[in-house]
Amino acid sequence: MKSWILNILQTQKGPVSGEAMGKAFGCSRVAVHNQIRELRKMGYPIQAGPGGYSMEKDPDLLYPFGFPENEKRMQHFEETDSTMDAARKAAQNGAPHLFVVTCDRQIRGRGRLDRKWDSHAGGLYFTMILRPDTSPQDAYLFNFCASVTLARVLRTLYGIDARLKWPNDILAEGKKITGILSEMACDADRIHYLLIGIGVNVNNHLNTFSREGTSVSQITGKPGSRKAILSLFLDEYEDLIGKEGWKDIVSAWKTLSTTLGKEVVVQTHKETIEGLALDVDETAALLVQEKTGRIRKITYGDCFIRH
Ligand code: BTN
Repeated sequence: MKSWILNILQTQKGPVSGEAMGKAFGCSRVAVHNQIRELRKMGYPIQAGPGGYSMEKDPDLLYPFGFPENEKRMQHFEETDSTMDAARKAAQNGAPHLFVVTCDRQIRGRGRLDRKWDSHAGGLYFTMILRPDTSPQDAYLFNFCASVTLARVLRTLYGIDARLKWPNDILAEGKKITGILSEMACDADRIHYLLIGIGVNVNNHLNTFSREGTSVSQITGKPGSRKAILSLFLDEYEDLIGKEGWKDIVSAWKTLSTTLGKEVVVQTHKETIEGLALDVDETAALLVQEKTGRIRKITYGDCFIRH
């Protein structure tokens, strides 16, 4: 019912009375009023006037009922430790393929290689559960799909020249605007579930990584919409993993890449590899040509571009 009320308030030009809403929905005016009271508590700025209820500003909230098409496969927290942990719990309890856990703030948001991910209000933080019928070796490609999709979304919605840095960062004006972290539960030949966690700097203030980070609002000079980004992302991601073959995804990634053709330093758990970023192969591994001419295939690490 909340989703229905919001839709009415967002599409009607003038105020709508509780009685009219109740009649259309088949419930009492009091039931409508109770729902409106709950919505207000959640942060929806619904006003009551002589003509009825109205809502002029979209508060950019991420409650599942705000995404009627995906409502059943979403769970939202105002605050949680990390959406990775909440999503893992949901996956262990049987949450289906493409289930999404969102939140407004994370207490212990984490990044790749055990780093902290600043997760203040205003950013978009979510983890998607995937249950693909593929081998664990293909997991990286799902991350590639996520970075390609999100870069396309930032381009479409805000005209941001979003570029991809191997393996999964999205940069805008050379600074990080999105980070992607994936975790997986699998056996040797089967993925039980894959968690893809995405943090997008939208309207959040950037502290610890402000020199390297940027946000949608910093780039466009206007607030961005977390809801619009997530909504378009979910539609496009499902389309991309369903339609295009892996080759197409790797070539879409290459088209948006800011890594290939550059001198890079890649830090892995074991060593530091320096050289020219030649290509990514069909498994999303980075091929780096060292000074000696030797070509190294790197599947995991932190990549820095030499300027
Ligand atoms: C990185 O670039 O290091 C990856 C950052 C990933 C951050 C996201 S925010 C949502 C999800 N929950 C987390 O704790 N981390 C990921």
